[in-house]
Amino acid sequence: MPLCKLLYTSQSAATAPSRPQDIRRIVEESARRNEALEITGSLAYVDGSFIQVLEGPHAAVEDVFERICCDFRHKDIKLIDLVTTQTRQFEGWHMGLLASSQDDPLHKELEQVKYLVTVNARTAAEHIRSLMNH
Ligand SMILES: Cc1cc2nc3c(=O)[nH]c(=O)nc-3n(C[C@H](O)[C@H](O)[C@H](O)COP(=O)(O)O)c2cc1C
Repeated sequence: MPLCKLLYTSQSAATAPSRPQDIRRIVEESARRNEALEITGSLAYVDGSFIQVLEGPHAAVEDVFERICCDFRHKDIKLIDLVTTQTRQFEGWHMGLLASSQDDPLHKELEQVKYLVTVNARTAAEHIRSLMNH
């Protein structure tokens, strides 16, 4: 069955950087819903920005993205990439999480991802995927 993969970016709506426990809660809730819809992907959070990859059946991804777009916990949502694919990049992750504090080595990697998204979304998604193994 053909699948689709979507990548978007957004900014946290919180005036202060979102707290790690708030982001964990979003991811835990999302993973439960996504599993039922056969959606996999990853949510990265760096310096107030979200970068999320969603992959799965077209209708399910569209439906979830519509709901995500209505969520007041973030703003400035930008759809960066939407492709049809036969294979999943995030098999097994109903929503992976990549978030770091400033002094964590992962922070530099996520800054790199944030930059990569602006020049090549697919390379950015691959980089996110490689970070999931760490
Ligand atoms: C950054 C961010 C990422 C989210 N990712 C997902 C997701 O992958 N799957 C999902 O079902 N909901 C996700 N949500 C939550 C949805 O926006 C929404 O609250 C949830 O799907 C419930 O929608 P409903 O209240 O219309 O039923 C995310 C929210 C935010 C702020």
